[in-house]
Amino acid sequence: MTTAGIADTLGAPLRVNSVTIKNRIVLGPMAVLRPTADGRASDQSIAFLERRARGGVGLVIVGGAVASARGWNESPFTPNLRFDGDEYIPDLARLVDAVHGAGAKVFAQIFPSFGRMGVPRGGARLIAASPKPVVLGAQGLPDHVYVPGGRTTPVPDEATAADIAQIQADTVAASLRARAAGFDGIEIGAHMCYFYSSFLSPLANQRTDGYGGSAENRARALRDAVAATRVAVGPHYPIGIRVSVNDHMPGGQGPEGFAEVVAHIVPAGLDFVSLSEANYESMAANVPSRSGTMLDHHEPQIFRAALGDIPLFLSSTPDPQQAADAIAAGHADATMLARQLLADPDYANKVLGDRLSEIVWCDHGNSCLRRLMTNVPVACHKNREMGREDPHAARATLPQNALIWASGNALLMKIADTAARMLPARPTH
Ligand SMILES: Cc1cc2nc3c(=O)[nH]c(=O)nc-3n(C[C@H](O)[C@H](O)[C@H](O)COP(=O)(O)O)c2cc1C
Ligand code: SF4
Repeated sequence: MTTAGIADTLGAPLRVNSVTIKNRIVLGPMAVLRPTADGRASDQSIAFLERRARGGVGLVIVGGAVASARGWNESPFTPNLRFDGDEYIPDLARLVDAVHGAGAKVFAQIFPSFGRMGVPRGGARLIAASPKPVVLGAQGLPDHVYVPGGRTTPVPDEATAADIAQIQADTVAASLRARAAGFDGIEIGAHMCYFYSSFLSPLANQRTDGYGGSAENRARALRDAVAATRVAVGPHYPIGIRVSVNDHMPGGQGPEGFAEVVAHIVPAGLDFVSLSEANYESMAANVPSRSGTMLDHHEPQIFRAALGDIPLFLSSTPDPQQAADAIAAGHADATMLARQLLADPDYANKVLGDRLSEIVWCDHGNSCLRRLMTNVPVACHKNREMGREDPHAARATLPQNALIWASGNALLMKIADTAARMLPARPTH
């Protein structure tokens, strides 16, 4: 495909339910927004997102959003935007207006609970489909990322029917707040060992009730949440899910199995599926160091065959040629990028404007990820503006930068890990 062909393919509009996205390049959700300490959108949160919208993406997906006090209290990473109270709506509306003003649509990624990845602050009870902890990076970690001692998360309780109903109610309430703030759509986070993710694969779901066993049963909790959200937000409001497409674990579920589960969810009123590779146990595959691994594994292709023409958002394919080829071949409908858009906020304008040689490429060195994992404000050495799009945004302190340096050291990381588990509960309101 010529560069003009790439621009034509990636520049074509995409319809998701009632919303038309102006092109096929999506800012993937990232918890890098530096909200205020009480979880509101800050000037920096807004400036970061507005900058990517000005850089030409058609859709911004806002990551790190929590839908409940539970999600706020148990989140494994701290840059969280709160959607669990009406008092957060005015700042979220400011965020939406800024992104719209810069020419992009904006969806909120809703996290009702972090499930197996939750942190039991203040002795809080964690819940998941089954009492299975996560062995972080069991199948390997991303390049330049280290988790001391193959850290194992605390064992969650098996969620009761009442727990599942509460998480669903929280999901619906947060989706309504997103709509009230002006978000163009929502995406329910059901990937990466979080609450809904724990139901989808037999590796994490060992239940013997109506939520476990067959693909239909494993889909049930998420399907019911999508159905309830659909009733609440009406027929025209875009609803998506983000799901892992492959456990990448011995004895785990592959793309055929995940696609079979998602096929049971689509009829509940789903408008798009945002694909995520692997999970915390197989993190090396989740944050790959080269473009197009998902396509190499035939995961979008298998989802397409199982799900028909529902829009699919492809991950981790910053090579514009690969992304355009995949979309032209019908394997996916949009290319959703995370790290590449930290490194170069103008990537979309460059791709669509036939200026490929000007792209600043992410080097996949993952210091952004190490910062996230150690709760240090995320920065990118390829883009010194990143994290300071608002000139008043605080920078990482010297000790925090030292911590990033130290995050390659097993002993120091073990100490940091132990300290994090002893943190007191975060205030809820
Ligand atoms: C700093 C950072 C923060 C992230 N936060 C989120 C998040 O809040 N929600 C989410 O679904 N994925 C999150 N991700 C994962 C990305 O959305 C994406 O799946 C992953 O980085 C692989 O895509 P890439 O190769 O385009 O970077 C985060 C990734 C990074 C690097
Ligand atoms: S720090 Fe920047 S260059 Fe390095 S992996 Fe993250 S986004 Fe890419």
